[in-house]
Amino acid sequence: MTGRFEFKLLGRDGAARVGKIATPRGDIATPAFMPVGTAGTVKAMLPESVRATGADIVLGNTYHLMLRPGAERVARLGGLHRFMNWERPILTDSGGFQVMSLAGLRKLTEEGVTFKSHIDGARHHLTPERSMEIQRLLGSDIVMCFDECPALPADRGRIEESMRLSMRWAARSRDAFGDRPGHALFGIQQGGLERDLREESAEALKAIGFEGYAIGGLAVGEGQAAMFDVLDHAPGMLPEDRPRYLMGVGKPDDIVGAVKRGVDMMDCVLPSRSGRTGQVFTRRGVVNIKNARHADDPRPLDEACICPACRGYSRAYLHHVFRSKEIIASMLLTWHNLHYFQEIMAGMRGAIVEARFEAWEAEFHATRALGDI
Ligand code: GUN
Ligand code: ZN
Repeated sequence: MTGRFEFKLLGRDGAARVGKIATPRGDIATPAFMPVGTAGTVKAMLPESVRATGADIVLGNTYHLMLRPGAERVARLGGLHRFMNWERPILTDSGGFQVMSLAGLRKLTEEGVTFKSHIDGARHHLTPERSMEIQRLLGSDIVMCFDECPALPADRGRIEESMRLSMRWAARSRDAFGDRPGHALFGIQQGGLERDLREESAEALKAIGFEGYAIGGLAVGEGQAAMFDVLDHAPGMLPEDRPRYLMGVGKPDDIVGAVKRGVDMMDCVLPSRSGRTGQVFTRRGVVNIKNARHADDPRPLDEACICPACRGYSRAYLHHVFRSKEIIASMLLTWHNLHYFQEIMAGMRGAIVEARFEAWEAEFHATRALGDI
């Protein structure tokens, strides 16, 4: 694989930015939404279908893949791209955040974290060095620093201590990552809702130097208003000429608000997970396909959507297959949700290029206010 990792800013409108990340495995148009493929699959979707929704990149997880099937095994089988049949860019999260939310019994030290697998209870150890090694074995294009983050609300002392530990881990991650042309290492800003801690974290990361910068520690229970308060200043603390990635966000209105404030990349399980629970995102808000009002409805989910679920199937059919627990329900609803999220991203990219983001945003909110009919 030849080529470089490069970010080009192509335009801006207010704080919102449009750009392109070039990687040896293909370009990523930003603002970008990254579907989550935790265990080597975006659940219920073939990789070519994920691509057809408009995704340029998917996310994978160190935590899940190290436990099963194991990073060394994936490497022997040719790496994660080959393994999951997705040849375009992959970003992998580093594991620390997932250990905190998913693993059983865990012990956090300066060195790293020891935890029990949520699958079989076996003991594992993760450090910045091992996380870098796992992400290298997977063949990840965008590698995330190993970090740690408390659930909010947490007291300031805990947030400060945790942020400083994550910054020491960021330096160790940078050292362990080494020199890998074509691959990128992203730092992760922490600091909870505290502006000065966010500033301190940004300065620490910039001093180390990364190919991109993530905003972590949000969407952990603080609510949209508090998250937007942080996003009013956090992106501006990070380098202009590097991509900014808001981790684990979010609902459509979270995504639009984040892009408005200068975020370039996002990921969330919401469109894929909701596809499996019958929650559908449309231009007019959320539709629960389980609801009996859809049982006789011959119309598509969204008249304006060109996804396979909307082109070929009625609400009545989707309601039926969902109620019957047919596998195609997960497939179609996930496809629609991912398509809709990518349509939002494409709409924002076009609006920013043409300096009409404000009008685009007003229409986005006005259409949602109409509600589903
Ligand atoms: N996913 C959502 N938030 C975070 C975070 O703060 N750190 C990491 N590593 N992953 C995340
Ligand atoms: Zn659709």
